[in-house]
Amino acid sequence: MGLLEGRVALITGGAQGIGLAIAQRFSDEGAQVVIADMREDAAVEAAGTLSGEATGVRANVTDPEDVTGMFEHAIEAFGRVDVLVNNAGITRDASLKNMTLEEFEQVIDVHLKGTWLGLKEGLARMKAQGEGGSMINMSSISGKVGNFGQSNYAAAKAGIVGMTKSVAREAARANIRVNAIQPGLIATEMTAAMPKEAYEAAEKAIPLGRAGQPDEIAKVALFLASDLSSYCTGITIEVAGGRHM
Ligand SMILES: NC(=O)c1ccc[n+]([C@@H]2O[C@H](COP(=O)([O-])OP(=O)(O)OC[C@H]3O[C@@H](n4cnc5c(N)ncnc54)[C@H](O)[C@@H]3O)[C@@H](O)[C@H]2O)c1
Repeated sequence: MGLLEGRVALITGGAQGIGLAIAQRFSDEGAQVVIADMREDAAVEAAGTLSGEATGVRANVTDPEDVTGMFEHAIEAFGRVDVLVNNAGITRDASLKNMTLEEFEQVIDVHLKGTWLGLKEGLARMKAQGEGGSMINMSSISGKVGNFGQSNYAAAKAGIVGMTKSVAREAARANIRVNAIQPGLIATEMTAAMPKEAYEAAEKAIPLGRAGQPDEIAKVALFLASDLSSYCTGITIEVAGGRHM
């Protein structure tokens, strides 16, 4: 029997990269999966590639109505939501000198406001269901140590850690666990957009000697989503090949 048999998982930004790898892992472990992404066609297509029952829905995580809508879609399709992964993300890298206020606000909106909206709706829905749950927030090792050109992203990703701990305290009595993951350099379209020299320099700084694969984050998300982590809440797991330990 799969680790997520009988559970329904909603994953934001699940149309590609880390989110899609999480969707695949969860599906292979028996979960019914909802992929929410601002790109509707990609979300629906990605859902169609999973091994189990799955559906895709358009949702921009910065829009409260869309966030409510993605939960309603999940409940219509599968009756409930047991696991939420707040994974949608963007980068708008530039040095502080060159970063525009718009680039700052876009990144803060998607990561901080998007995660907050997901947690708020997820907590209410899971509490009403009365059977506990697991919410997982995607932070980044950037939020731990900062990164040149990422004053927006590092601030948002550090903020997600504080948000995770606060909501974990509020949700614990309902046996709803809230945890975060801090990936290091993972091979996805997001990091493929990095300048070649920056990517190579980052790879050199990794004790395990290579970038991670999306499924190496998905395996940790599976741990946090399932009963394997039944006594973990408010924690942040670094999955970075030893970088910035
Ligand atoms: N790749 C890495 O090295 C790395 C490292 C640390 C943290 N992360 C984090 O992991 C998460 C996934 O990253 P990835 O590398 O898979 O990125 P990616 O760019 O490959 O995928 C991101 C997905 O999020 C979706 N998305 C973007 N904005 C959205 C919004 N407003 N609403 C809904 N969907 C939206 C995109 O359409 C896309 O499908 C992000 O939160 C990212 O910050 C990635």
